[in-house]
Parts: sequence; C-alpha cells; structure tokens
Amino acid sequence: MENYKELLSPLNTEHFKLKNKVVMAPLTRSRSTAGHIPTDIMIQYYGERAGAGLIITEGTSPSLNGVGYPRIPGIYSREQVKAWTPVATAVHKNGGKIFMQLMHSGRISHPDNMSDDAVVFAPSAIRPEETKMYVDGKGELPIPEPTAMSVEDIEHTIEEYVTAAKNAIEAGFDGVEVHSANGYLLDQFLNTGTNKRDDNYGGSVENRCRFTLEVTQRVVAALGKERVGIRLSPNGAMNDLGPFDSQKETFDYLSAKLEEIAPVYIHLVNHESMGAPGLPADIKKNIRDRFSGLLILSGGYDAAKANQDLIDKKGDLVAFGRNFIANPDLVKRFKENASLNDPNPDTFYTPGKEGYIDYPTLEEQKDNA
Ligand SMILES: Cc1cc2nc3c(=O)[nH]c(=O)nc-3n(C[C@H](O)[C@H](O)[C@H](O)COP(=O)(O)O)c2cc1C
Repeated sequence: MENYKELLSPLNTEHFKLKNKVVMAPLTRSRSTAGHIPTDIMIQYYGERAGAGLIITEGTSPSLNGVGYPRIPGIYSREQVKAWTPVATAVHKNGGKIFMQLMHSGRISHPDNMSDDAVVFAPSAIRPEETKMYVDGKGELPIPEPTAMSVEDIEHTIEEYVTAAKNAIEAGFDGVEVHSANGYLLDQFLNTGTNKRDDNYGGSVENRCRFTLEVTQRVVAALGKERVGIRLSPNGAMNDLGPFDSQKETFDYLSAKLEEIAPVYIHLVNHESMGAPGLPADIKKNIRDRFSGLLILSGGYDAAKANQDLIDKKGDLVAFGRNFIANPDLVKRFKENASLNDPNPDTFYTPGKEGYIDYPTLEEQKDNA
C-alpha cells in the first residue's frame, strides 16, 4: 500500500510543478559567516534535503539593514550571490527546487550584528521590549530603539528587495518568498501595535498593507508571478507582536489584493505547536476563499495530518520545519513509513557542522545497525 499518497504525489498546476507536496519550511540556522556570506556546509545541508518538492531557504536579508541576527545570510552583495550559487546547483542536481526567503528583520535586530553603516529600521520608533537579541561573544542583549523609516527609506528598501530577488535568480534559485510574517519588517507595518504612522503607510488597513503589497508587486513585476511566494502569520505572536483588533480585516484585504498581484503561493504560519496562539479558522478560510493561488500550510505537521489536510483541500502543499532539521531524507522516511530523528534545539543556531549536517539518513542508520 502506498503511504501518504496525496502528500507524496506531484503538484501539477499549469505554471508550477513539483515532484511532491512536501515543502521544507524556511529555517534560520545561522551557519553563514559573521559577514553574512553563505558557507560551504550550507551546500551539503540544502543538497541533502532536495527530496522535498520545494525547499524554502532560511530567512536571507535583502539589505545591509535587514540582518538582525548573527551569521544569517544575505543576498545584497556580489560575494553572497557567488556563495549561494553552489547551493542552488546542489539542490537542482539532486532533483529539487529551491526558493529563497527574503527576510528583512526590521526592528528585530541589534547594531552589533550589523555593519557600521547599517540602520535598524521600523515603521515607528518603538522598541521590542520583551525580545532580546543574541550577539556573538556578548549573549542576549536588549534591543535598542529603532529608527522610524521615512518614505524615501521605504522606497529605497523596495528597490533593495527587487535587487535581492534578481540576485537570487542570478544565483540559480527558482524563486523567492517574501517574508511578511513573524514580526519582521513587513509584518511590523501590518500590525497596529508596531505601526503608529500617520502617512500613507500607517493608520487604515489599506495603508498598513501598502508596503507588503508594493514589495510583492514589484518583485512579481521583476521575476514573474510563478517565481514569487509570500509568507503571512495572521494572529502571530512572535517578536513582540500580538493579535490586534483589525487583523481579520487586514488579512481579508491583503489576500484580496494578493489575488490581483497573483504570486504563486501564500504560505501560512501556524505556531500553535510551539505554544503560540493558533491561526483562527475564519481568517484561514477567508484567505482560501479570496486567493486562488496555491496555499502552503505549516506548523506541527506529521505526514498523516498533512496528507489528510491535502485530501480535505485545506491547502495545496504542506511545509515541515523541525522535522527537516533532523531528517535530511524526510521524504524517503515518509515513503517508507520510517521513524524520524528528533531535532536538538541546542544546535539550531550554533555555528559549525554539529546539529547541522550530522543527522543520519536512513541508509546511514541501517549501515550502523
Ligand atoms: C530553528 C528555527 C528557525 C526558523 N527560522 C525561520 C525563518 O528563517 N523564517 C520563517 O519564516 N520561519 C522560520 N521558522 C519557523 C518555521 O518555518 C516553521 O513555521 C515552524 O518551525 C513550525 O513548523 P514545524 O512545526 O514543522 O517545525 C523557524 C523555526 C525554527 C524551529
């Protein structure tokens, strides 16, 4: 009997085809250099996970100003483009597809993780008081007050997204995912808790959605719609953001406008399995009703639940995060109904190979048995 038939069968839409419906969720692993250049171990890490129908990379900064965390990669310099190229090649060689997640961290940052000429930007000058930022050699530090972006800063940042997206394609990636979730820059504009602006980018639902929509529109114009996805986290509570009064209207409007821009997918975050508030059923349904592109579900999935949600047409693809950290051959394990390795949170963000490219495959486990 075939296991998880729906999950493991190809996605075959007119403009977007994948060998199965398993997506590797974006996972920050902090294995780049202190200067935010990808390293060689990332080639092996992503190459080994090419069994997924689609890999979405870790959050990768489109700007000098967007590298909030230590050792996260960027895609704004020639050196970064060069270092990312063999990563895309390795995934393609192993029969996979890979999108790069463009993550500008906005106020979730610390100047010590950035170059001297970088600025910590936010919609408004409001500190994330409850969130600390890890700095190599110094530990967890309070985050200073960010600089409220001018309209010129916003326009410049949109240009940076477009250049970064083109850089990703130049490096051989199949597309990009615009990260508008989890309390980073674009999500900070959506949320009334962080956006107190009184210009065209704040206040009304339309104004708070403007930056996300302009970035998506411009990146779609540059790359083509089948090469752009977007990640959203309605009701999310990461990085000092929380649910807000007009969130239903905000995500209703956003998904209706995204239907017009037509990126290939919306990727929904649900961090309920990590102790966060869940994704309200009405918001999820409204997004599904308004947006006719692909919907990626994520958060706390195993193969059985993913397969069932696909059969029930709750989404078109399912992303797996922590299971992909610990199981390079996750799809093979699903096919064979094999047990999974457990991820070790102590090495999620530590530099080097440990906890990164040393989780065994099924074959390696059999050899050692
Ligand atoms: C170590 C770690 C790093 C993550 N980094 C990112 C990231 O860079 N971008 C993002 O959108 N989500 C990130 N996430 C969230 C995951 O994409 C995913 O939503 C989450 O792990 C829940 O899915 P899971 O239950 O399958 O692990 C991260 C999660 C973990 C555990």
